[in-house]
Amino acid sequence: MLPSPWFVRAITRVSDTLARLRRRIIPAQFAALELGTAGWVSHALAAFCELGVAGALQAKAQTARELAAAGYGHEASLERLLRSLCAYGVVRCDRSRRYTLGRVGRALTGADSVAAMIRYANAPWHTAAHGRLAGTVREGRSGFSIAHGEPLFSYLQRDREAGALFDEAMHAMSTVYAPAFAAAYDFSHCKTILDVGGGDGTLVEAVRARYPNLRTMVFEAPQVVQRVAADRPDIEFVAGDMLADALPAADVYVLSHVLHDWDDENAAKVLANVRAAMPDDARVLIYELLVQPPSNVWSQDRVSDLEMMAMLGGRERGIDEFAALAAAAGLRVARVIAARTSEAVIECVPAGSPSRLTARCDSATPE
Ligand SMILES: C[S@@+](CC[C@H](N)C(=O)[O-])C[C@H]1O[C@@H](n2cnc3c(N)ncnc32)[C@H](O)[C@@H]1O
Repeated sequence: MLPSPWFVRAITRVSDTLARLRRRIIPAQFAALELGTAGWVSHALAAFCELGVAGALQAKAQTARELAAAGYGHEASLERLLRSLCAYGVVRCDRSRRYTLGRVGRALTGADSVAAMIRYANAPWHTAAHGRLAGTVREGRSGFSIAHGEPLFSYLQRDREAGALFDEAMHAMSTVYAPAFAAAYDFSHCKTILDVGGGDGTLVEAVRARYPNLRTMVFEAPQVVQRVAADRPDIEFVAGDMLADALPAADVYVLSHVLHDWDDENAAKVLANVRAAMPDDARVLIYELLVQPPSNVWSQDRVSDLEMMAMLGGRERGIDEFAALAAAAGLRVARVIAARTSEAVIECVPAGSPSRLTARCDSATPE
């Protein structure tokens, strides 16, 4: 059960205020160094995931010696890795240096594990892109292209291991936000849903769990379809290029965390391609973070925007920017529905459609 958006906002505010208070109290150099070396901890967490230690500790509490004897690594180094993660709720240590999983560590095991996203975010080819951020800011092109000489999606197409890790990472992320998407919108009048750039179909599967008669389709890059389709026999996968190829007809088109991958020109192209395929009474659901007004408070869109800038040359957008993109593609924003995550569902309909169309799937059903 997801907490309500207002509760999450309130807690975020309180923790943000406490974090700012702490930054005011500790010496400024400490605060700067803590921020500037946070990546060391991220890499420790990624190593913890890569070594599979979470799975071992889920089975039983263990010492570094026991983990080393079972083949998880070098004893003294395991001890140092584990003790460094105690302060973050990843593991807990007792007096005999026996480690168990903490609350954060438990999020790295099981069907809802986000471990793949952490491995993706800390993979050497990923961090190389962020390492070029100053170059990105100077030149305005993605750190990924500067570091690797090609865009992320063509790299993922060439490097099967990197591509598979990306798919796993997107699956991990969609297990976090798919249930909130499915709960935010009333699909009861819709027969066919097409998720454009829908990865392995986790999002449409969450919708079908609530609407079992829905026909679910995913339009994806051919190499992704090749990797994931066999595991999802209930979903119809269509392989193609969302920028260029014709999309199948559907009642609802979903673009979840897709437009933020692209600059304005290409994002408008994707939307125009959807508009060209959709019947006049169909709608488009854009599921994205919304950029918040300028403030000194933490918000997820800021962090995700850095990732888009470094990896793809894309961007997070505010509602006015989405409205402009929609208008350029012959669509208009009909409604914005807050989901029980940081994302919103932005419902778009054909530009000339009467407003009664907006009422057809009107009652959003947040729980
Ligand atoms: C950031 S992921 C989002 C995945 C999923 N929609 C989600 O919300 O987790 C973007 C997806 O778009 C797909 N993609 C990128 N370029 C594409 C293209 N030209 N045609 C079709 N799919 C593409 C990628 O393979 C990837 O799965």
